Amino acid sequence: FSIQEFQQDLITWYLAEKRDLPWRKDQDPYKIWVSEIMLQQTRVDTVIPYFNAFIDKFPTIEALAAANEEEVLKAWEGLGYYSRVRNLHAAVKEVNESYSGIVPNTPEEISKLKGVGPYTKGAILSIAYNIPEPAVDGNVMRVFSRILSIWDDIAKPKTRKIFEEATYQIISKEDPSSFNQAVMELGALICTPTSPSCLLCPVREHCSAFKEGVQAELPIKSKK
Ligand code: ADE
Repeated sequence: FSIQEFQQDLITWYLAEKRDLPWRKDQDPYKIWVSEIMLQQTRVDTVIPYFNAFIDKFPTIEALAAANEEEVLKAWEGLGYYSRVRNLHAAVKEVNESYSGIVPNTPEEISKLKGVGPYTKGAILSIAYNIPEPAVDGNVMRVFSRILSIWDDIAKPKTRKIFEEATYQIISKEDPSSFNQAVMELGALICTPTSPSCLLCPVREHCSAFKEGVQAELPIKSKK
């Protein structure tokens, strides 16, 4: 397994094939943050119009910090899981007051913000700030379970750490933003939960599960 060739094949594919999504137009940490919170429990197609309307209404940290809760909840109406937006609003006010409106760029500081767990932390730091931090969710675990042949049960809370450690080893230090987004994109477009499109996969030569023919058996996910 050549880490360098894997990174290059993955990122080259991503840059050529990535979907034109509204939160990919720039690397504004605020917009990345909003998009990642929306995407946590909601599909991309559903999120797109909500994201655009939300950013039109609250284009900056300052604007969202100044809004009243009712207005903010209204912009989220239909997305569900309203604690997401309550936490986001509280955290944005905190950034506005304590960090001069700049989303912090260290794991320690950003983790203190309400609603920013390990996944969101890694997503913002990598995508917006180009810092090589893992952003491991269920999709990322599926992709790496196959590529690296990791047979740990992804339904177990402890397993995420194993994938984070693995990601630290192979994440691109030159372009962690594209690397993490490429893994997400591969999980969405190619390395799908059932019938992954291995023949179209840009990294199948690097994929342990494909080589062994066990891609349909991974990831291991026990019923809770
Ligand atoms: N799912 C979670 N984060 C995403 C992103 N940045 N782009 C596409 N799908 C995602």
